[in-house]
Amino acid sequence: MTSPAVTCAAGDSLAVAAQAMQGAETGSVVVTDDGKVVGILTERDLLRAAAAAGEPGLEIVRLWMTAWPDVLGPDERVDAAWASLTSHHYRHLPVVEGDRCIGVVSLRDLMGVARIRPAAETSGDVPAGLEGVVVAETTIGDVRGQQGFYHYRQYSAVELAETRSLEDVWSLLFRGELPDADAAASFAAEVRRRRAMPAGLSTLLPALARRGAPLDVLRTAVSLLGAELGWRPTHDIGADELADEAVGLCAVVPTILAAAYRLRQGEEPVEPHPDLGAAANYLYMLTGEEPSAPHARAIEQYMILTIDHGFNASTFTARVVTSTGADLAAAIVAAIGALSGPLHGGAPSRALDMLDAIGTPERADAYVRRALDNGERIMGFGHRVYKTDDPRSLLLRGVAEELGGPLVAFSQSVERTTVDVLAELKPGRHLYTNVEFYAGVVMHTCGIPREMFTPTFAAGRVIGWSTHVMEQASHNRLIRPAARYVGPPPPQPVSPAA
Ligand SMILES: CC(C)(COP(=O)(O)OP(=O)(O)OC[C@H]1O[C@@H](n2cnc3c(N)ncnc32)[C@H](O)[C@@H]1OP(=O)(O)O)[C@@H](O)C(=O)NCCC(=O)NCCS
Repeated sequence: MTSPAVTCAAGDSLAVAAQAMQGAETGSVVVTDDGKVVGILTERDLLRAAAAAGEPGLEIVRLWMTAWPDVLGPDERVDAAWASLTSHHYRHLPVVEGDRCIGVVSLRDLMGVARIRPAAETSGDVPAGLEGVVVAETTIGDVRGQQGFYHYRQYSAVELAETRSLEDVWSLLFRGELPDADAAASFAAEVRRRRAMPAGLSTLLPALARRGAPLDVLRTAVSLLGAELGWRPTHDIGADELADEAVGLCAVVPTILAAAYRLRQGEEPVEPHPDLGAAANYLYMLTGEEPSAPHARAIEQYMILTIDHGFNASTFTARVVTSTGADLAAAIVAAIGALSGPLHGGAPSRALDMLDAIGTPERADAYVRRALDNGERIMGFGHRVYKTDDPRSLLLRGVAEELGGPLVAFSQSVERTTVDVLAELKPGRHLYTNVEFYAGVVMHTCGIPREMFTPTFAAGRVIGWSTHVMEQASHNRLIRPAARYVGPPPPQPVSPAA
């Protein structure tokens, strides 16, 4: 409820009541007599008076108010208030304790509790960052933050990462079902066929690679790819054409990234390997050497775990751009831009930088305390949705343990210290490692250079983005929210030009 209630006396003029409402920015005024409720006057009553051409300074409240309105007790349940308001078509009800008015409950208050609002109304209380706001329906997957669980289609993403290949999960996302052996083999073969860059792009790539970091190069390269392959607006093409573009895009992205990295190092790009699976081939194109089976599998599991993850910033961005009917390249370029920020995809290399800066386990406590004192964020910790262990982090920690090595033992020790210090200095915030912490450790251990951490994330995530582009395009509606204007009240006079 809103408390205290705005009140006036039955003998006051409508002008006095209207001023009280306006001053408190409320839609009603409770009419009291010696503290007891005798009526309620609402904006609707003021409108009725205005329509009757009454003079607000002369008309008195008693003639226009609803006398002896329904009231509520302070301990009544929200559904009782809701029933009372809706059955009488009221918008406001006084709340009374004893015989004193202590507040007003309005339809708007109740809609705030229920998190519903009239379709045409711009809501004032959407949380900053749209946290928890449902903006679409999807069959691709979901994240249950409180439970530490997420899924692709109807399957646990962690179980898929434990048991399936990247191509199988890719096929699940694109086609809606897990492939049987034949379908899996034919999908994997199609993807292999489409790994090579088109000629125009491979000609231009060296010039691009000299100028930017691999993720920036990818952003530009995807633009070029769309232009070179003549991708048309999603608005103008059918599902099959878009799906075909998406398979080609996701097949070639690792090739672009590996080539961009090697060219930047002054090395020749390595052609895709016809016999290797997607993750092993990516490592091969990056390093020029066939990876060991454990390394290839570790990176494959990392890529499966990060293919998709609800309506994160880059996925939402891809859907917003698709909703305009733009082509696949435009949506993916925008998503790459969103991913490039350190609060989204840029954390694994920063997490590893932090491990370097800490240096030895016994320095972790002081390092974290100093960082928090300075108001800094500890990279690789905390998550918008997970308020418990990030399931991706749990699996990757296990993968890291299997790979072994001094960095793994050190990072586990830093994790323990950091979680303890965060719990002490940020109580109640539920801060644990997110996917990025062990992602950095795993990628480093498998020989991926630090500047390729976020690009490697993109190499898998492009599959998730493309799935969302296809879903958005399949039943599209332009995404067009609203903002609340909070600047100086318009219209202000425009000063004449000097
Ligand atoms: C991912 C992230 C942006 C999510 O943040 P969010 O949902 O916006 O959470 P909030 O900013 O509301 O943080 C809630 C509280 O926890 C604190 N917090 C969150 N993550 C923190 C971190 N990594 N280190 C220290 N404090 C952190 C915030 O300071 C805030 O404290 P306050 O209540 O005293 O202001 C945030 O956890 C973060 O910046 N993490 C580090 C970057 C990172 O690892 N990104 C990769 C994500 S997969």
